[in-house]
Amino acid sequence: MTAQIISGKDIAKQIREEIKQEIAELKEKHNVVPGLATILVGDDPASQVYVGSKEKTCQALGIYSERHDLPESTDEAALLALIDRLNEDNKINGILVQLPLPKHINENNVIMAIDPKKDVDGFHPVNVGKIMIGEPEYLPCTPHGIQELLIRSDTKIDGADVVVVGRSNIVGKPIANILLQKKEGANATVTICHTGTRDIASHTKRADILIIALGRPKAITADMVKDGVVVIDVGVNRIGKTEEGKDILCGDVDFEAVKEKAKAITPVPGGVGPMTIVMLMENTVKSAKLAAGLV
Ligand code: GUN
Repeated sequence: MTAQIISGKDIAKQIREEIKQEIAELKEKHNVVPGLATILVGDDPASQVYVGSKEKTCQALGIYSERHDLPESTDEAALLALIDRLNEDNKINGILVQLPLPKHINENNVIMAIDPKKDVDGFHPVNVGKIMIGEPEYLPCTPHGIQELLIRSDTKIDGADVVVVGRSNIVGKPIANILLQKKEGANATVTICHTGTRDIASHTKRADILIIALGRPKAITADMVKDGVVVIDVGVNRIGKTEEGKDILCGDVDFEAVKEKAKAITPVPGGVGPMTIVMLMENTVKSAKLAAGLV
């Protein structure tokens, strides 16, 4: 079997069009323009690319955006003061602080300073808790993108054995939480594997849906999966440079080998990555609608 390639690029494009339409209607009927503030501390090249793409997408869709680039030496108090100001700014519906932050800044303090109503990343404990009790307000962008990829590729989630490899707060834990909810597009039996798991392959081999977010190139090999599995590869690993100096990317899955056994698989690049950004836009629009009393 050669797998169906789940193109996050194509699915994200479709969702972008849906969001663009909604933003145009919000403006026309209600004079509401959603606004997103991005904050980048330091000059990590990958983070700069991510924040740049978020800004560009805002502009393409008609979302007001402002970018705050702060030097690496910024102290926590100054960052918290900026967040306070943005919490009070009515033009701003979403505040995104790009992670990771420099080591001298406590990430949890920063996340907790963001008004949960403007937490379009879905990282604030209030929003994490709402997912846990089955009353989500903002789903975190990457996990939400993964769920959309599964739904829009007609993958049966209800009753499926889902195995997640990686337990980060950004991907592993929230996607597990989302897919185990008793809801449409979920209701799966979920296992999370991590560095303390004794025999990862014994779990991955029985997965109907395998979600990999561990940050190690080609760590999941063909002998670790069963025939007919649906694979979502969240890994983005830089494994070299092209002659033109562009990064060569690969996922956490040995794509070429695993695609011969899988029913469907996401590529890297062009799989999960493009979905994360559109889900951020969707959350920003939702926040604007909530602020305007439209939902
Ligand atoms: N760094 C890696 N992924 C993310 C994300 O989804 N949101 C933020 N704010 N930072 C990230």
